[in-house]
Amino acid sequence: MSTLSVPLPLEAFKKPVEKVVLSSEQEEIIKLKTERDAILLCHNYQIDSVQQVSDYVGDSLGLARKAAETDSKIIVFCGVHFMAETAKILNPSKTVLLPDLQAGCSLSDSCPAEKLAAYKKRNPEVYVVAYVNCSAEVKALSDVICTSGNAVQIVSQIPKNKEILFVPDQNLGQWVMGQTGRKMKLWPGSCYAHVLFTKESIERCRMQYPTAPVVAHPECIESVRDLADEVCSTEKMVRFCKENESDTFIILTETGMMHRLTRELPEKTFIAGPTDHCSCNDCRFMKMNTIPKLLDCLREGNPEILMEKSLIENAKLPIERMLSWS
Ligand code: 13P
Ligand code: SF4
Repeated sequence: MSTLSVPLPLEAFKKPVEKVVLSSEQEEIIKLKTERDAILLCHNYQIDSVQQVSDYVGDSLGLARKAAETDSKIIVFCGVHFMAETAKILNPSKTVLLPDLQAGCSLSDSCPAEKLAAYKKRNPEVYVVAYVNCSAEVKALSDVICTSGNAVQIVSQIPKNKEILFVPDQNLGQWVMGQTGRKMKLWPGSCYAHVLFTKESIERCRMQYPTAPVVAHPECIESVRDLADEVCSTEKMVRFCKENESDTFIILTETGMMHRLTRELPEKTFIAGPTDHCSCNDCRFMKMNTIPKLLDCLREGNPEILMEKSLIENAKLPIERMLSWS
């Protein structure tokens, strides 16, 4: 059943451009950032009020790069656990804070390190490419890391004689195989939020807004990606919509993305792609960071990401390889 059987007028998707008035809690966060010498790194899926007080808002690749180059003493990471862990691995001497340590990722959970270690034991020659959405333990077992923004570039550089295992996202892996022509074994993991888009729900939406290009994240299933005009990371979505002449787009990813798009391209209209049930495809983990938790985290200097030195060292190599290859 579709919730969009009667097309809504495009005005319904247009957010009025209002001057942002910060709350007193947001003002205090900005003040504390300076006092504590903290940088606030924020993923595109975070709630709008968190994005508004951040120093940098971007995709996983942009966030890893920012984390690698920052001079600030403290990194406050508004995203999910594996992202904050990546920042800690790149900055072992810095304090890395995550407002809610429970902000996990179902995709990351789909590849436990023990299972990957067992697979590697049975297949010692395999070359492991790990999508950054995985635990530090999985990264430590991998040869190179990639993000959705550089996966094609990374896989293209792996010597042809290597047999590749791609973990943990089978949908991204399948898309990369199509883009590179490189065969890979795929770990059977997926993102619970992105697989909610279906061929039927997107076909209906396309019929309702036939001139709007469809922009999809590669974590979507193949039959959905096949309907898209562009498949890309969240950062590349901003660039695509900026450069494309259309003024309306159907966006197939987590709905936090709409804040970034409407803020940067206020003259354009963005329709959140519908699932079979709704147009509210939120990642429950990304939404765990809130303004009160962020404020407490800056006031108290925790929750902090703490990791064993040996784990940091082992996980760092494949991340640094990714950064030097892209
Ligand atoms: P991006 O790197 O494209 O922002 O994706 C991160 C993510 O978690 C997608 O679900
Ligand atoms: Fe993980 Fe999916 Fe949430 Fe991204 S959207 S953090 S892949 S659960």
